[in-house]
Amino acid sequence: MSPPRISLLRQPDLPEAARLVALTLRVSNQPDYGAANVERVASNFRVVPLSRRLRRVSHFGAWERRRLVGMVSLAPDGGVGAFFVHPARQGCGLGHRLLSTVIREAKGAGIPALTLRSSLAAERFYLAHGFVAGDDIWHGDERTIAMRLDLAPAALKPARARARLS
Ligand SMILES: CC(C)(COP(=O)(O)OP(=O)(O)OC[C@H]1O[C@@H](n2cnc3c(N)ncnc32)[C@H](O)[C@@H]1OP(=O)(O)O)[C@@H](O)C(=O)NCCC(=O)NCCS
Repeated sequence: MSPPRISLLRQPDLPEAARLVALTLRVSNQPDYGAANVERVASNFRVVPLSRRLRRVSHFGAWERRRLVGMVSLAPDGGVGAFFVHPARQGCGLGHRLLSTVIREAKGAGIPALTLRSSLAAERFYLAHGFVAGDDIWHGDERTIAMRLDLAPAALKPARARARLS
């Protein structure tokens, strides 16, 4: 089968996106967070809230024919979210492709860094992609991890640029 095609999500794609998120949360994240937390998070990814976010945040989808098998979002401030790969497609490099798309788009838009809140299940994935872990974030008994990936080339980082000028 040819690799999934990645394109920007549009409003008509949102019912499919909501289904993908709900399924992935239940299969991949429920063991860490429990059903109540997962249902609360899933409610933020129903069609109406997704539709509101789509107006200001780019969402990329990975398609196998007409089936959405992965998605991720990139906000203008570098916030990454809504990152889900269908449980049957995880571990095959699709997350890597989606993240590469986000990094390319962010660099093209001059965004200096990506930030996100990692699930426990995704921590290793982000660390393997160069993200640096920050503080734990607690929401009740739900722990996520603040992560950051610097995109600015080292030579252009302000501290070094200043040092070179002085
Ligand atoms: C986190 C997530 C988006 C990553 O997507 P993915 O498609 O599984 O990611 P990849 O396949 O690119 O990489 C996953 C792992 O498989 C490995 N891998 C990549 N290609 C592979 C291949 N062809 N064969 C075997 N393993 C492979 C990677 O090395 C990686 O290993 P690591 O976790 O030790 O770093 C996905 O697992 C997911 O949806 N998780 C549940 C939801 C979630 O927690 N989302 C994050 C919210 S912050």
